[in-house]
Amino acid sequence: MKRLLVTGGAGFIGANFCHYWSATYPADRVVVLDALTYAGNLASIGELVQQQRLRFVHGDICERDRVAGLMREESIDTVVNFAAESHVDRSIEDPQSFLRTNVMGTHALLEAARSAWGPAADRGMRRFHHVSTDEVYGSLSPADPAFTESTPYAPNSPYSASKAAADHIVRAYAHTYGVPCTISNCSNNYGPYQFPEKLLPLCIVNLLEGRPLPIYGDGLQIRDWLHVGDHCRAIDLILRASPVGETWNVGGGSTEPNIRIVEAVCDLVDAAFRRRPDLRQRFPGSAPAQNRSSRSLMQHVRDRPGHDRRYAVDGSKIARLGFVAQTSPAAGFAATVHWYLENERWWRDIVSGAYRDWYARQYAAS
Ligand code: NAD
Ligand code: TYD
Repeated sequence: MKRLLVTGGAGFIGANFCHYWSATYPADRVVVLDALTYAGNLASIGELVQQQRLRFVHGDICERDRVAGLMREESIDTVVNFAAESHVDRSIEDPQSFLRTNVMGTHALLEAARSAWGPAADRGMRRFHHVSTDEVYGSLSPADPAFTESTPYAPNSPYSASKAAADHIVRAYAHTYGVPCTISNCSNNYGPYQFPEKLLPLCIVNLLEGRPLPIYGDGLQIRDWLHVGDHCRAIDLILRASPVGETWNVGGGSTEPNIRIVEAVCDLVDAAFRRRPDLRQRFPGSAPAQNRSSRSLMQHVRDRPGHDRRYAVDGSKIARLGFVAQTSPAAGFAATVHWYLENERWWRDIVSGAYRDWYARQYAAS
């Protein structure tokens, strides 16, 4: 039986991980530590909290002593660190908060683990897993091979630079102090509970509201898309099977230009409207409710500064550990569109609540 501290468990991937873990290992103890920034949403794990299948603690990973106390109190043996500022566009507007949480926060968390777990010899089956991104490797040219675990780090945005710095600190704490760490560098995730500032949920929500779908630049930037459920299974596998000190690239093996992703989402929404007459009443502002194709909302806008052109992950190392992505993009995108249609309350509370001001500014002209 494990006793997990899941930091950032009220965010997108963290919440999915909590659902996955409590369904797969119901006897384990899960404690979530989350600062509930704009991206954290208790509603994403509300059911688990109500059913007392996890304990939620409102707190900041930068509070080293408090975190160490929590780890002692709960006899935590496994830390999974999802807590982060995660949106590239925001990192361009406000790098400071990214350095604070992603770099200083990860450092504070490592110190807390070092303090709570004592000298290296006493660490037994303990594990500190740090969740990172493929963006630390920078941008690929069309002919470059996919990122492997030995690709040199070359981060280009304040977000990816802060994640790269955190990875280096984790590695140094494993090497210098014997903190039993592993790291995963994963590609772009999509699925339920993703905050509607990231490409897929942004497009779904905008489509349903009849707002433009912003395509940065020519839309030919390439990402490697992975369903969040597969990411959760990969982390589980790493926790169970990886030796301490290893890093693992995780990808879906499905690389597509952004514009194709947006077109696919448009077509899925249009197909849903054709099958279900109730959607016209629920979303009267959407293009299909007005007999137009959702693709008509696609709009090329100014490119993101320093926009990375292409990411692709070589997943052969984790494949040798037994990992295979189970959800195809076709099935995963369809399931994600369906989830947002069925969970309108979840995203409407965000769009009209804490996120309202950002949304209003962003779409003031539309
Ligand atoms: P998210 O922005 O949806 O959630 C982040 C969570 O961390 C939120 O609940 C937020 O409240 C919490 N948080 C932020 N600062 C905190 C602090 N100082 N103390 C405690 N909690 C804090 O992010 P996500 O998309 O779920 O990403 C989770 C992790 O996975 C991040 O480290 C990210 O870099 C990494 N990652 C994300 C993707 C992706 O496609 N989303 C891909 C690869 C890796
Ligand atoms: P995003 O979801 O922000 O993830 P990341 O920047 O971490 O890869 O963006 C995915 C891709 O989609 C990225 O190339 C930027 C692009 N994009 C748009 O074209 N329009 C948008 O409105 C957003 C949010 C992203």
